[in-house]
Amino acid sequence: MIIKLISFIFVYSRFTSANNLYPNYHLSPDRGWMNDPNGFCFFNGVYHLFYQHNPYSSYGPGIVHWGHAVSTDFFHWKHLPVALNPDQWYDDGGVFSGSCLVDAGKMYLYYTGNVNHEGETPDHSQYQALATSDDGYNIAKYEMNPIINGSEFQPDLRDPKIWKHGDKYYMVLGNSFKGESNETLGRILLWESSDKINWEKASILLESDGRLGYMFECPDFFELDGHWVLLFSPQGVKPEGDKYKNLYQTGHIIGDFSYDTKTFTPLYEFQELDHGHDFYATQTTLDEYGSRIVIAWMDMWDQNYPEMDQGFAGQMTLARRLKLGKNGILLQKPVKDIDAARGRVLHTGLTRGGKVIKLVNNTAEIFIRSSPLQNLDVFIESEGNQVQISYNRQEGTITLDRGGKDAVRRTNWRPLGKLTWRLYIDSSSIELFCGNGEVTFSSRFFPTGPVSIRLGRQSIADNMTVRSMKQTV
Ligand code: FRU
Repeated sequence: MIIKLISFIFVYSRFTSANNLYPNYHLSPDRGWMNDPNGFCFFNGVYHLFYQHNPYSSYGPGIVHWGHAVSTDFFHWKHLPVALNPDQWYDDGGVFSGSCLVDAGKMYLYYTGNVNHEGETPDHSQYQALATSDDGYNIAKYEMNPIINGSEFQPDLRDPKIWKHGDKYYMVLGNSFKGESNETLGRILLWESSDKINWEKASILLESDGRLGYMFECPDFFELDGHWVLLFSPQGVKPEGDKYKNLYQTGHIIGDFSYDTKTFTPLYEFQELDHGHDFYATQTTLDEYGSRIVIAWMDMWDQNYPEMDQGFAGQMTLARRLKLGKNGILLQKPVKDIDAARGRVLHTGLTRGGKVIKLVNNTAEIFIRSSPLQNLDVFIESEGNQVQISYNRQEGTITLDRGGKDAVRRTNWRPLGKLTWRLYIDSSSIELFCGNGEVTFSSRFFPTGPVSIRLGRQSIADNMTVRSMKQTV
């Protein structure tokens, strides 16, 4: 009761406070904690997005549940009751991440049941479990769970992603193993089934040689534009110059895959999918038109962001359509449905440095087009707080500096033709899409009052268009 009252006060104060960090058009829990996207799917005309959720506190996942929201356009989300509770012997340490297979008119939700063994080594084990639904709303755990015991792969075996090919079903799972000198290394296992219930290990898709760290979380594996994408979140990758600066990474390897030999042949090295501070644990699905859509948790472990004191924590990135680019790059663009969230034009036209544009509700979509031969600086400012995004023509880099500790993220980028940026601001988040989406930055920032945007003194844009965004969540 007391917990409920306190969380009500936090939620109430969120809507009345001047520096409301709650997003206007990104999915965030109505209260409590959110991490990874789970069970992302299109079922009976509706997008379902489940997520790692603590309904009781915003200060951490606790014994994690599956939250649930639905939408028909990726922007207007409706919150639904908690979908999966940690209430069985095989998941009483948390209903961990997983995915949804839509097959024969039903939803099959595969997830990891985490079990804690306090004071023991290892202190947890992880089982794969199944829940099904006929309508997408009433969800029941399978009585014969767990469906994968995985005793030889313990203690870290999690985050099943399932797909169907022909009359077979396939699953990728994140795992770790002991290398030759007994170091712990990450890997991704492929499993196979003929009936969705009984699974057998088929192959090892990828193993870390040490450079990619000790554990691979949230694997996803799919065909895109003639090749295969292995998308995952490695833990323990060491920083290298401007790369791998977040606590954990999310990225992909483009390659080829043979269903006959069950082998994945990489064509390129691992690349980070996003270059900002807050992008983790991606999951993809096919939209109603068959396009591959990715969404990520726009946050990072161990951050303690100030929104926790407003009764919520964590949010999802925009849904982004993926295309295969050159040199092992993935191109990301906000889904077309973004139209549903667009508000009115606040400013448009040739824009010189120094002109200050005040945002409405600290929220905007900004298009910038400028000469590739000049540097460009954009400042996103509130009273005591500033984010600077810069294109440096000499270096061919983009830098996002959000101030404070661990302020800077940078990567190489040169425009092909005109410099074009799309920037999305939403109360406490910034997403930058460069050019055709070959480089993106997703970072949280925490304004202390009304937010405005301006170009740096030396900068000029042939066109800068700033729109307000609607409140859709
Ligand atoms: C990734 C992750 C997953 C796990 C879940 C637990 O952020 O660690 O590997 O299933 O979060 O909440």
